[in-house]
Amino acid sequence: MKIEGKKYRTIWFDEENQVIKIIDQTKLPHQFIIKDLKTIKDAINAIKTMEVRGAPLIGATAAYGIVLAIMENNDLEFVKKSGENLIKSRPTGINLKWAVNRMIKKLSGVNNNEILKVALDEAKEICEEDVKFCENIGLNGLKIIEEIYNKKKDTVNILTHCNAGWLATIDWGTATSPIYHAHKKGIKVHVWVDETRPRNQGANLTSYELNEEEIPNKIIADNKGGILMQRGEVDMCIVGTDRTIATGDVANKIGTYLKALAAHDNNVPFYVALPSSTIDWETTDLKNIPIEERNSEELSYVEGLDENENVKKVLIYPKKSKAMNLAFDVTPAKYVTGLITEKGVCEASSNGLRKLFK
Ligand code: MRU
Repeated sequence: MKIEGKKYRTIWFDEENQVIKIIDQTKLPHQFIIKDLKTIKDAINAIKTMEVRGAPLIGATAAYGIVLAIMENNDLEFVKKSGENLIKSRPTGINLKWAVNRMIKKLSGVNNNEILKVALDEAKEICEEDVKFCENIGLNGLKIIEEIYNKKKDTVNILTHCNAGWLATIDWGTATSPIYHAHKKGIKVHVWVDETRPRNQGANLTSYELNEEEIPNKIIADNKGGILMQRGEVDMCIVGTDRTIATGDVANKIGTYLKALAAHDNNVPFYVALPSSTIDWETTDLKNIPIEERNSEELSYVEGLDENENVKKVLIYPKKSKAMNLAFDVTPAKYVTGLITEKGVCEASSNGLRKLFK
């Protein structure tokens, strides 16, 4: 997608300098900085500090992290150890483990002379596949938006949470892809963007990328979705997911569950968009999904522009107050109207998922 009219992906391999390039998302929306990842440590750090974030992009970064590990030392034991360290860098998004396992499987039995090329090709393939899958999610979700538009014959108001946009993937996004496709087709859409405290990925990233694509949107406080739904000002919700388990229960950014409850109470359709790389087929109990707890400073400090347009971080809580920062929650499948995947839209249930994928 575009930033200031120029097309970008979120991650790519720079052939000339033999480094991985990323957009440093901790600097958005006020600064646009492209950063080099040169070592496996750089890749792990980028994931931990959320320079890259969003489950599919984390997966792609891990795949390229394996490439960087091989560049440092092409011994398979070192590469496997690097894979384990990558998996530990963030716990909830399943794409990370999926990508590392896929890379290691591809590399086993490959000789030392070829291992780098095989790894690089596979990492690129993971990215290409993600772009294709996200595009198909868009085309499948477009049909739902189109149906609402044909009935309503007016702007479709879509609420989204956090950033499941192209910045969370390689291109297109998951939740935003149907929106981009609808906009391209001339369907009038307007997006309610949940600010998404504490890191504000909705405000900092989703609104930013929608602005760059000229899609009308408004940032709302996380607690506002309920009243908008009661007032009939939300036609549908589309969110992303970091891990959808075999039962169709959905882990996503903290606050998603409350939106799903409000949607359920107000008969607003609540869709979750995901590529199959986000499905955790092994987990069948939502209590077994690891929920990341992050540093409470994400809550107590906010960053923004000061009066001189310099980025500044300030404390907003009483100095003596403690805070607690869970990064994800789980929405039970019963509150999900449907899962929008690259293969089609299915019921959020083990049956629904199995019919589409097995
Ligand atoms: O903590 P983050 O920013 O990595 O969280 C990821 C998200 O933005 C969302 O939870 C998203 O909806 C799923 S990733 C497409």
